[in-house]
Parts: sequence; structure tokens; C-alpha cells
Amino acid sequence: MALEKLTSARQLTLPVLEEIFHVAEQMRQVCQKHGRITLLSDKMIGLVFLEPSSRTLLSFQSAAQRLGAGIVFIQGVGSTSFEKGESLSDAIRVFSGYCDLIVARLPKSGDAQIAADASDVPFINAGDGGNEHPTQSLVDTFTIREELGTLSHLNYAFGFDPLQSRSIHSLCMVLSQFEDLGFEFVSPPELRAPKSLIQQCQERGVRVRESDRIADLHSPDVIYLNRLQEERFPDRALFEKYRYEYRLTPEQIPTSARLILDPLPRVDEIALEVDALPIAGYFRQARNGVYIRMALLSMLLGRSL
Ligand code: NCD
Repeated sequence: MALEKLTSARQLTLPVLEEIFHVAEQMRQVCQKHGRITLLSDKMIGLVFLEPSSRTLLSFQSAAQRLGAGIVFIQGVGSTSFEKGESLSDAIRVFSGYCDLIVARLPKSGDAQIAADASDVPFINAGDGGNEHPTQSLVDTFTIREELGTLSHLNYAFGFDPLQSRSIHSLCMVLSQFEDLGFEFVSPPELRAPKSLIQQCQERGVRVRESDRIADLHSPDVIYLNRLQEERFPDRALFEKYRYEYRLTPEQIPTSARLILDPLPRVDEIALEVDALPIAGYFRQARNGVYIRMALLSMLLGRSL
């Protein structure tokens, strides 16, 4: 795979996706049969996580260690030289001398590109502000394919903060390459998906609708929810206004729905009673994170099983 620095879901073309899915399946076998192998035992992975993270951080750590790699990491800005005013480019340039690949979660939109440009080693964007989250879109599409057997000919509903959810942005970009799709964005009027994202999806032939209410959902096959992105609201009152209003309960799920996903953490967007339904796939989705991230680490470092 030619990919060396993954900053955007735009880089995840259909052939790249197929290759990553194939290797992720192999990694699932590795985990089940061996637990840990030595494929990357001569490699050091640098994890630079300047925003809160649980799943992405832990699944990258698990992926690196299951492949035998060592890890160096920074978590949070508090104990680092960023506190002294060091620039992101300087820091990443230096860190790339300490490891063979950098995975970074960064607070501002566009930071991933700045960091990737400064890195002398392969780089993976693990979320840059409200912009993108390309590795999550791989976990999501891998899960949908596994659960429904296809990514094409489906109607997808996305809620409830398509404006600020980087997971929704990256997922829409990847999905829009598939055939015969409908996307429906459900959100308060103030949190509509970015116009540029809608335009890009429409240019690729996706049928796009926008609605205010869960009750207006139009026969979705897949419902993809993400919490209102509390930390990204410029106006706290707006978050408070909607936080309990947009919450999926079992009664609201249209009969067409075959799968419900959420990158998690779940906060208010899905009622706990939904968890017991067989179509609630979010905990299965989270488990796939390790296989996808093992695939990415090995492929970006040019290693195969
Ligand atoms: C997402 C993120 O960080 O953007 N979480 C994740 O990586 N699984 C979703 C979120 O925080 O809402």
C-alpha cells in the first residue's frame, strides 16, 4: 500500500479499503490464535494524544503491543512542552526521531495535516478537532460490511451533530464512494452537516435529505449516532437546549433499521434500553477497532504477515 501518512478519509479509496479490510481479517485471526506476535518487534510507535480518548488510544496501544511493537506516548498537554508554547510542527519533527510511526489526536481542525507534514516517519490522524477521524471510518465501514454483507444499496441516517462530529464527516466521505446510497442527516437546525460535505456526497450521486426530528426518519437501513460534541459548542446554552431532546429510544426506531452504530462514548444519544436489541451493534463495532488498527500499523510500516 502506497499510503504512508493517513490524515483524511479522502485517501481511503476503494482499493485501499479492500486491502485494509483483508489485513484486518487476518489480524482478527492473529488475535484469536496467537494473541500477540512479533511482526513489529523492532518498531517503536509514538502516541501523541492531546485530546481525551479512551477507545482510540487503548485500541492503538493494544494493536501495537499485539504486534510486538514498543510504545512511547504523551497523553494530554499538561505535562508537555506544548505548555511552554512549543509549536506542533517542532514537537512532531522531534518526536519522529524517537519512533517509527506517529499516531496523533490533536485539538484543532487541520492540525493533522500540519503534524503529518512535519513528521519524518509514517503518520496516522486519530482525530483532529471537529474535522476528521479516518481510522474510525475504517472501523465503521468494516463493521457495516461484516454485519450487513455490503456497504452499497443502503440508506444511512446520521445524527445528531453532523456539524461537529468528525466521525460522521469521515464516514460520509468513505461511504459516498459506494453505489446507490441515501444519506439522511438528523439534527437541530443549528447543527446541520457542513455544506461542503453535503455537496461532495451529492456530486458522488448520494441522495441527501436533512431533517429536524428522529420521527421524520425515512426508512434507514443503518442508523449512525454520535453524541452532541459538547466540548466543541461555542455556545453552551445551545448544547443544553438539545442534549436530552435528541435521544433514540426503542419506540423511535423505524422498522427498516437493520443496524445501529455509534463510535462511542454514548452519552445521551441512545437510551440504555436500545442495547438489548440485536441490531444495536455499537459494542461489536468498538471491538473491531483493534483489528483495523493492527492492519494500519503493519501496512504503514510496510510489513505483512
Ligand atoms: C469519537 C471521537 O473521538 O471523535 N470517539 C472515538 O474515537 N471512538 C466520538 C466522540 O468523541 O463523540
